Amino acid sequence: MRRPLRIAQIGHPILRQPTRILTREELLSEEIQSFLDDLVETMREASGAGLAANQVYQSLRICAVEVRNNSRYPYRPNIPLTILVNPVLTPASDETFINYEGCLSVPNLRGQVRRHCEVHVEALDREGNSISTVVKGMTAATYQHEVDHLDGRIFLDRVEDPNSVVTLENFQRYCMDKVAADVEALVKRYGS
Ligand code: NI
Repeated sequence: MRRPLRIAQIGHPILRQPTRILTREELLSEEIQSFLDDLVETMREASGAGLAANQVYQSLRICAVEVRNNSRYPYRPNIPLTILVNPVLTPASDETFINYEGCLSVPNLRGQVRRHCEVHVEALDREGNSISTVVKGMTAATYQHEVDHLDGRIFLDRVEDPNSVVTLENFQRYCMDKVAADVEALVKRYGS
């Protein structure tokens, strides 16, 4: 049985170092394939919407994303399990929106971050096949959050209004109803 990996917390230098690109050969190695299973297991165990390799102390340009009836984000639409290797994101339009985010490496805090509504994604999947697609809405925000990790950035770096930073408890008490309505509108518009 797999054991979840430990998750680096804000202040650990590995979260601030840009991660390293993998070769296709490396990606297909038993070691990395096994690590990908551990990464997914750890994300699920912690109820994350995504997890970047450097959050589990591997400075590699890999992240996983999945939302499936998530207890930390009950108002969020589902996202199928996706592993992105060497991802590159490019905005696909000028439009942005404000997203309330949290992070497994930033315990107990949520804050508002500006994200592109649509991004183009170039990456490899875990088998080394090319992914070239556009993601929108909440899915786009989640991808941007994870790829920020791979560049050594944390969502707090992008908070424009410090007043938006709240504990999880106060998020649920004061913010969640409005956020749930905003997300519903976004999903209506973008389908994700
Ligand atoms: Ni995060």
